[in-house]
Amino acid sequence: MTPLRPDPDTTPLLLAARQLPSPRIPVWFMRQAGRSLPEYRAVRGEGTILDAISDPDRAAEITLQPVRRYGVDAAILFSDIVTPIWAGGFGIDIAAGIGPVCEQPFASASDLDRLRPLDPSTDLAFQTRTVQLLVHELTPKGVPLIGFAGAPFTLASYLIEGRPSREYAKVKALMHADPTLWHRLCDRLADYAIATLGAQVEAGASAIQLFDSWAGALRPEHYQEFVLPHSRRIMEAMAGLGVPRIHFGINTAELLPLMADAGAEVVGVDWRTPLSVARDRTGGRVALQGNLDPALVLAPWSVLEREIVRVLDDNAGHPGHIFNLGHGVLPQSDPEQLARVVELVHRR
Ligand code: CP3
Repeated sequence: MTPLRPDPDTTPLLLAARQLPSPRIPVWFMRQAGRSLPEYRAVRGEGTILDAISDPDRAAEITLQPVRRYGVDAAILFSDIVTPIWAGGFGIDIAAGIGPVCEQPFASASDLDRLRPLDPSTDLAFQTRTVQLLVHELTPKGVPLIGFAGAPFTLASYLIEGRPSREYAKVKALMHADPTLWHRLCDRLADYAIATLGAQVEAGASAIQLFDSWAGALRPEHYQEFVLPHSRRIMEAMAGLGVPRIHFGINTAELLPLMADAGAEVVGVDWRTPLSVARDRTGGRVALQGNLDPALVLAPWSVLEREIVRVLDDNAGHPGHIFNLGHGVLPQSDPEQLARVVELVHRR
């Protein structure tokens, strides 16, 4: 019988997550699947991305495409942070070229009823099936599968604003005007994250990433009061499962120590903060993931190469480093360039 997961003592991503020396620097890319790949466009199909996500054969195939093409050190489940909310029937969709949209955004306590408790065995059965298909393919190849969920702040931003936002004005207004309702909403969203992450790990995911992409919109005191307790509860619920936990956001230079406090083994760093600075700020408590500017993938190879080396030099050979972009692959990226990134990082 094949084991459920790759060996944590020989798998680069799982070693680096524990800050242990690895035979090579692990590398994968956020949004490595998706529109930058012609093979994705070929199987994506018409309809919304949620149709592709909820079809296990298609979702598994899309997840595997970048692993085959690039030889990256991890696969990430093809899904979205709003998938569990959609599965729970809140009334959310993903509009092409826009992102998550709600026709009736979250506005008052009565909207909490639209976030009923999730039952993973039925609501997320498609996701469990996808993870099982993937683990069956990936584990014999020694490639770990990363499961993920959206963190309460980032999910709340879509539910309250009703669409992607720059200012988060409505989110912040609700948070400060009605802290009790804010915390009740985040409690429900944390339950969603715990349910989906727990189901992914149970089905064989080897690591989990909590995406709090937009939490950097807050000052540290507000992050600490309104966000940290909920993200910490999610991290604590995952603590006993024996898989490394990655905590990610952008614009988080001032939040890095607090994000490490939430309890992850790995903290994601965007390109604005040098890894050496991030390591100082987190006091060496966590491994770091990042942090090449995704726009540099669009630059000529000579420039890209220099900047990859800069990231690696800045890490100075520290074993607690998972190479990644500081945020997701841009859709207009050339896959050939990403292949060269992997090749260079692996050669070092
Ligand atoms: O390869 C992977 O990284 C796995 C797939 C993945 C998707 N969404 C698929 C997707 C992951 C990890 C996500 C997470 C996600 N979704 C986040 C956190 C990561 C981040 O970028 O900070 C966020 C904020 C979302 C919300 C969301 N979903 C946005 C902002 C968009 C983009 C809208 C657009 O079209 O530009 C989506 C849609 C989406 N999710 C796409 C993909 C591949 C693109 C739509 C498509 O291909 O039809």
